[in-house]
Amino acid sequence: MSTTPPMPNSRQADYPVNVQFTARWSPRSYTGEPIDSEQVMCMLEAARWAPSSNNAQPWRFAVVLRQDPEWNALFATLNANNQVWVAKASALVAVASSHLATKAGSAEAVHNPMHAFDAGAAWAYMAMQAHLNGWDLHGIGGFNKDAGAQVLKLPTEHTLHMLAAVGKRGDPSALPDALRERESPNARRSLRELVGRGSF
Ligand SMILES: Cc1cc2nc3c(=O)[nH]c(=O)nc-3n(C[C@H](O)[C@H](O)[C@H](O)COP(=O)(O)O)c2cc1C
Repeated sequence: MSTTPPMPNSRQADYPVNVQFTARWSPRSYTGEPIDSEQVMCMLEAARWAPSSNNAQPWRFAVVLRQDPEWNALFATLNANNQVWVAKASALVAVASSHLATKAGSAEAVHNPMHAFDAGAAWAYMAMQAHLNGWDLHGIGGFNKDAGAQVLKLPTEHTLHMLAAVGKRGDPSALPDALRERESPNARRSLRELVGRGSF
């Protein structure tokens, strides 16, 4: 197991928050070391406890470790700029959700307009738990979703939202110049821009 290189946390919160919120970020330099499925399941355990509309828990996940037979086919669905760095990730976790939900006491499946929103909450929980466990996730929207759905046998009524690359942060010097320059925690808009009182 390699040691994660130290990375000073340049992010400044304007209001006091637990350091985990500013310390988590999405690297592209990974060590390529193997991860076992138990460790991925710990991250998904956190995702399981995310809140969802009517507690529908519309999220579904597909885990592909780099040693799994599906790795090459899923990797091939990534945009070329993502392939450059995902090549050293340890796993990919696909996040999908169903737009159909059954409410308690009813057998009828109805449209759940909140399914994608709720899947986003689950992904965020997973990313935070991964970071707390010494792993880092990097979300990926840049891939061919139709091809990904085929590789992963996405069930009907589901939408494939994203892949999360999972890995141990490695030495940025292995990255191409353009990516190496971006390999540090980025900034955020100020709360003044994001929050209105009484209206947006
Ligand atoms: C749904 C989603 C899709 C993303 N797609 C990509 C992607 O295709 N390629 C990439 O390099 N980063 C991707 N990112 C990473 C974001 O650019 C990154 O999370 C954002 O810049 C905030 O940085 P941080 O995660 O380091 O705090 C994606 C993130 C999310 C949540």
